[in-house]
Amino acid sequence: MCGIVGYIGTKNATEVLISGLSKLEYRGYDSSGVAVHTGSKLEVRKNAGKLSVLQTELEQQSLSGTLGIGHTRWATHGKPNDVNAHPHASEDGSIVIIHNGIIENYLPLKEALISRGHVFKSETDSEVLAHLIEEKYSGNLEQAVREALSEVRGAYGIVVTHVNHREIVAARTVSPLVMGVGQNEMFLASDVPALLNYTREVVFLHDGDMVVLNDSSYRIMDLQGNPVSREVSHIEWDAEAAEKGGFDTYMLKEIYEQPQALSNTLLGRLQDQTGEVDLELNLDPASFKRISIIACGTAFYAGLVGEYLIEQLARVPVEIDVASEYRYRQPLVSENTLAIVISQSGETIDTLEALREAKKSGAKTLGIINAKGSSMTREVDDTLYIHAGPEIGVASTKAYTSMVSAMLMLALWLGRARGTLDASTGTELLRSARELPRLVEEALSESRVANIKRVAEKYKDARDYLFLGRGVNSPTAYEGALKLKEISYIHAEAYAAGEMKHGPIALIDEKLPVVVIATDSVLLEKTISNIQEVRARGGKVIAVVSDGDTEASRHADDVIIVPKAHEMVSPVVNAVAMQLLAYFTATALGKDVDKPRNLAKSVTVE
Ligand code: AGP
Repeated sequence: MCGIVGYIGTKNATEVLISGLSKLEYRGYDSSGVAVHTGSKLEVRKNAGKLSVLQTELEQQSLSGTLGIGHTRWATHGKPNDVNAHPHASEDGSIVIIHNGIIENYLPLKEALISRGHVFKSETDSEVLAHLIEEKYSGNLEQAVREALSEVRGAYGIVVTHVNHREIVAARTVSPLVMGVGQNEMFLASDVPALLNYTREVVFLHDGDMVVLNDSSYRIMDLQGNPVSREVSHIEWDAEAAEKGGFDTYMLKEIYEQPQALSNTLLGRLQDQTGEVDLELNLDPASFKRISIIACGTAFYAGLVGEYLIEQLARVPVEIDVASEYRYRQPLVSENTLAIVISQSGETIDTLEALREAKKSGAKTLGIINAKGSSMTREVDDTLYIHAGPEIGVASTKAYTSMVSAMLMLALWLGRARGTLDASTGTELLRSARELPRLVEEALSESRVANIKRVAEKYKDARDYLFLGRGVNSPTAYEGALKLKEISYIHAEAYAAGEMKHGPIALIDEKLPVVVIATDSVLLEKTISNIQEVRARGGKVIAVVSDGDTEASRHADDVIIVPKAHEMVSPVVNAVAMQLLAYFTATALGKDVDKPRNLAKSVTVE
């Protein structure tokens, strides 16, 4: 996720751009830059680091003009440095662009452009757009952008301007873009907060929309050039509410961002036709005999899902540890071990020290990380970024589902490369993985969310909760218990459902809500038996079931219905129900879900 702003009007463009970018730093802060039309040329200033670095440079070397574009970066392709910062320019500097998203087919496009003589400066996918538009340009910028985008696959929010045209052209697919309508001035931004200092009249552009902005007018069209009309909305939010996208909390905003986050995690990596995944890893998939997964908290539960998937699909022995234990148990590690660390922040000290321990013992190391350029990414041999975008809420939500999806892709990649997974099964699983953004969107439908809110409020005064799951969804139970504990402060335990009869069943009574993950599974019949064991002892069963279920629901006191999904991808869909159950319980109890007591977003102390 990056922050994008654009301005054309009568004000000092640099001031408007910096003001807007300062409201979008939550979307990414690896680097930032602006391009301003200073009369005869488009001048670019861009730096690695936080926005304050750019602000200092602009104070020393100001740019004056009334048209400009600006960007704050959450790096996906290419390190966070000055060259990879946006804006990117065409060869002759006449065109500048900024981009939010991932161009799936940037490599073949880049190779073709290089073969036609284009010289690239950065490692980014985004720079391809500048060269492609330049190549298509023959006097009409709007047409050049349209033709360039017809060759692009992936996600983009793009903003473009040309030194010879007093206009700004923009377009979006997957990545958000909103236009601000002023008096003889127009604005563009990735998100509303950047606009509110100047206007509350906004137009939310839809996927496939393109817009041309002039000083006092705008034209919206589709990518074929057909006019499109979009309503102008009046924003009532205050600035803080705007940063949360109108949601009450960052956590709820991030729960609803999961379809887009998952698109970014999966995009460009799934090759359905061959049943392969392209993870752009240097790691040799045949260069190790066993895997150690090491993480903390929610990341650890994503690793647990990964353990099931890797052993089932790639037949590689996996052991998994919480990092704080791994470091001190003298694990048997050698050069035949691949140590995988999983971390949203890439800064968790327990995981970082465990990584160092594994490296000392000769293990190859791979990071499944969200934060680009974080400490862990500088110390592992290879990184698989989850591209979930910055996660502000202390309780992890979109990072978890993106981590689980990354573990699925890793298991598929290993299975195909090591010959334990055939192409047709790979293709079937890839098709299921590609469905995840849509399935999670469906899991967030108004009726399903309202039902989960009802269940949460019904049991909000429970003293304890029990969560049960089987197989690849036993980690879903653990994650559900953690989410509830973290933000509602209700004690919750989780067990593999088959384990309940070995002790925890003594906990069952009419005051104990028991959440049972009973979605489609080869083990569903056994899970239904566990539900009956709970009911027989008076326990209150909240069954999480798949669309169309007729059996498990019959035995439950309350039912949460989630979209039907292939069992191996179901932990992603089921996690959404766990997040919402915890969220609505905590809000019903009046808790601060974004800043729960005693917790920190990244635990950088031992
Ligand atoms: C998750 O909701 C918690 N905030 C916590 O368990 C977190 O997952 C853990 O501290 C690991 O953080 P990391 O992913 O940044 O390493």
